[in-house]
Amino acid sequence: MSVAHPVHRGSILLEDAEVVGQAAWPGRQYVLTLRAPRVAARATAGSFVHLTCDEHLPMRRPLSVQRACVRSGTLEILYKVVGDGLDRLSRAAPGERLSCLGPIGHGFTPDPARPLALLIGGGVGMPPMVFLAETLLARAAEGFRSLALFGSEIPFPFRMKPSTLVVPGIPDGTIAAHPLLEDWGVASRLATQAGFAGCFPGYVTELASAWLGGLDAATLARVSMYACGPTPMLAATARVAQRFEVPCQVSLEEFMACAVGGCAGCAIQVHTADGPAMKRVCVDGPVFDASAVFPPVAP
Ligand SMILES: Cc1cc2nc3c(=O)[nH]c(=O)nc-3n(C[C@H](O)[C@H](O)[C@H](O)COP(=O)(O)OP(=O)(O)OC[C@H]3O[C@@H](n4cnc5c(N)ncnc54)[C@H](O)[C@@H]3O)c2cc1C
Ligand code: FES
Repeated sequence: MSVAHPVHRGSILLEDAEVVGQAAWPGRQYVLTLRAPRVAARATAGSFVHLTCDEHLPMRRPLSVQRACVRSGTLEILYKVVGDGLDRLSRAAPGERLSCLGPIGHGFTPDPARPLALLIGGGVGMPPMVFLAETLLARAAEGFRSLALFGSEIPFPFRMKPSTLVVPGIPDGTIAAHPLLEDWGVASRLATQAGFAGCFPGYVTELASAWLGGLDAATLARVSMYACGPTPMLAATARVAQRFEVPCQVSLEEFMACAVGGCAGCAIQVHTADGPAMKRVCVDGPVFDASAVFPPVAP
């Protein structure tokens, strides 16, 4: 299925978000909870916020929404400190207010014709996949079922849990799972080359290939793939999708200035039926068809 993006209507909200809490995880990873009810009410899996990390820092930073709770009006964000901006954000204390622009971008478009969703997240590409898993869980009556495969080379920003959910086709010994997804009854498995117990010893895309390779043709025809993570992981995911002839949507991270479609600083070239075209990752994406960003190569 191609990603059917509705026309962008410019409905990006500006809200003073209150820091509710921050949990620190190894590898300078943080889970930030913000109270921003208007943004939370409209966020979707794959959308992001453009956040002022510190009032003295001129540029905002784009960060994906991991969870949005309409009832509490809160957003959850998982980030890893890269430079000055996120370092300052890691020092934001409960009660502080941060200017929050969002939700921005067109997120994932689940395909009801292919309700078996394979979600692939690498590093801080995991947050949109957690959001998508929760979204599809809420749509279980339509037949949606998810398998989430996450990869990280630094400790995962959660307490891994041995899974009790059986997933045929997953290599023996690969039992470590995401605790929240496990509690929801959504199957997940973890991959790493760092030797963490219970994880698949390799790339998350190899784990995805192993699972897809065990499916019969009728099941494979019901699978769709969704991914977010570093560009080499997305390119490898696109190759796996091409090999198994499964439609795939990828969420891109590009350097952003305005994040509202005005500066074209995030423009990338994509491949369309009419030939190459330029798209802004912030408002035309960040989710695109994998085949538009990583054109299929001849076998
Ligand atoms: C749509 C989107 C969603 C994202 N979601 C997450 C997330 O959920 N968790 C997370 O940890 N990171 C996420 N990122 C990456 C995150 O925005 C950058 O790591 C962050 O901006 C780095 O800021 P810094 O000040 O710490 O680092 P610096 O290197 O000091 O940043 C300097 C400048 O470069 C930009 N920049 C640096 N790295 C990136 C990058 N990878 N992508 C885009 N801009 C960058 C910054 O915005 C800033 O303007 C996302 C990026 C995009 C575009
Ligand atoms: S960052 Fe300005 S158009 Fe996307």
